[in-house]
Amino acid sequence: MTLSGQTMPLEARKCQSLTGRVRVPGDKSISHRALILGALAVGETRIWGLLEGEDVLNTARAMQALGAKVERTDDKGGIAWSVRGVGTSGFATPQAPLDFGNSGTGCRLVMGAVAGCPIRAAFDGDGSLRSRPMRRILDPLELMGARVISQSDGGRLPLTLEGAHDPLPIVYRTPVASAQIKSAVLLAGLSAPGVTTVIEREASRDHTELMLKHFGADIVSVADEAHGRRISLTGQPELHGAGVTVPADPSSAAFPIVAALITAGSDIVLDDVMTNPLRTGLFVTLREMGASIEESETRLDAGEPMAQLRVRASKLRGVEVPAERAPSMIDEYLVLSVAAAFAEGTTVMRGLHELRVKESDRLEAAAAMLRVNGVAVEIAGDDLIVEGRGRVPGGGLVTTHMDHRIAMSALVMGCASDAPVKVDDIAFIATSFPDFVPMMQRLGADFA
Ligand code: S3P
Repeated sequence: MTLSGQTMPLEARKCQSLTGRVRVPGDKSISHRALILGALAVGETRIWGLLEGEDVLNTARAMQALGAKVERTDDKGGIAWSVRGVGTSGFATPQAPLDFGNSGTGCRLVMGAVAGCPIRAAFDGDGSLRSRPMRRILDPLELMGARVISQSDGGRLPLTLEGAHDPLPIVYRTPVASAQIKSAVLLAGLSAPGVTTVIEREASRDHTELMLKHFGADIVSVADEAHGRRISLTGQPELHGAGVTVPADPSSAAFPIVAALITAGSDIVLDDVMTNPLRTGLFVTLREMGASIEESETRLDAGEPMAQLRVRASKLRGVEVPAERAPSMIDEYLVLSVAAAFAEGTTVMRGLHELRVKESDRLEAAAAMLRVNGVAVEIAGDDLIVEGRGRVPGGGLVTTHMDHRIAMSALVMGCASDAPVKVDDIAFIATSFPDFVPMMQRLGADFA
């Protein structure tokens, strides 16, 4: 739905082939973090390639409301965002509630940052964000000394948080693999004297750790048990403004990648895609399915690896995706389920309970999206089972439930299904990938 309250339907029809070279927008996770750490640092942070999607713009506005100076500048012909920070613990009380729109990441990370400052701030968001659990963030922040002044049912938004006057460092074992929980605790830990430690059983994306190091914090991450990490941050560092180049978002790249794999004759190139191993579970899975995805021009910037990807249409086969891979591809199951529908054979995706608390219940949404387009699919406990038949009948209308990734996944499906796929509302695509539709059309997609 647009701000004017109108829905924006769109239909994807089978296209010839997808070809060309594009750079998808900057990584959403890194964009949020660059703004937040820039706001907590002393001096200027310059960010190139920031994702200018609604989610990130809401975080930028929140940083301004908390006292940082945030500007979009023209930097030698390119766009750079400049953030002048207030220093660790330096946030000021905002005049109005902070509105995070659709973004769980922006909201939860900023809660962590606010929890370490002696201020009060109200947090709010749209209907989707208001339905999402916040207790998982508030529990550790309360242990660190923050107080929840008011909240909606079950710790949901809208809520008001009072940051700790004397924040305590804690040792916290995250109850689910979540980079948002980990990051909130670490950001609050910036204000605490001593060492704050987060232990996770399954490693989640480590952009906060890498960027904290880049801004000068003393942070150490070591392996813990089979798949986990133990991350220790020394509190009260002086963070220094830094330069950040945001690589292209692998979670956005996932859509043209799957579209090219399932559309006969396709051959596309994607520049600067971030290849941090804690984000590339989809690429691993697609390659196991038989996908042709070649990496070249690999490089590293501020600890984040990136590469150019060449993707060619491929014959895919069903695979089993283990539960422990979920954190490294948590946002990609919707589009993977589309690839699975076009594969030959059964794909079983295990351990997807966290999908139920994303922008929508993505486990139900994936099943509904496939079913309405003639694909046999089943939810068994936390597992999603898709019967791939090598082709998809299509012809369905997909409900997007205020979820950008449902809209994009359904449109990708329509690039290669027998009959068109229609989505009821594409407006939420602007939260993460504002130029998705024109970029896909440039590659050859038939969206109307
Ligand atoms: C994100 C973490 C993930 C992911 C989200 C972005 C982040 O959420 O789904 O889109 O930037 O930290 P969880 O921490 O809830 O798994």
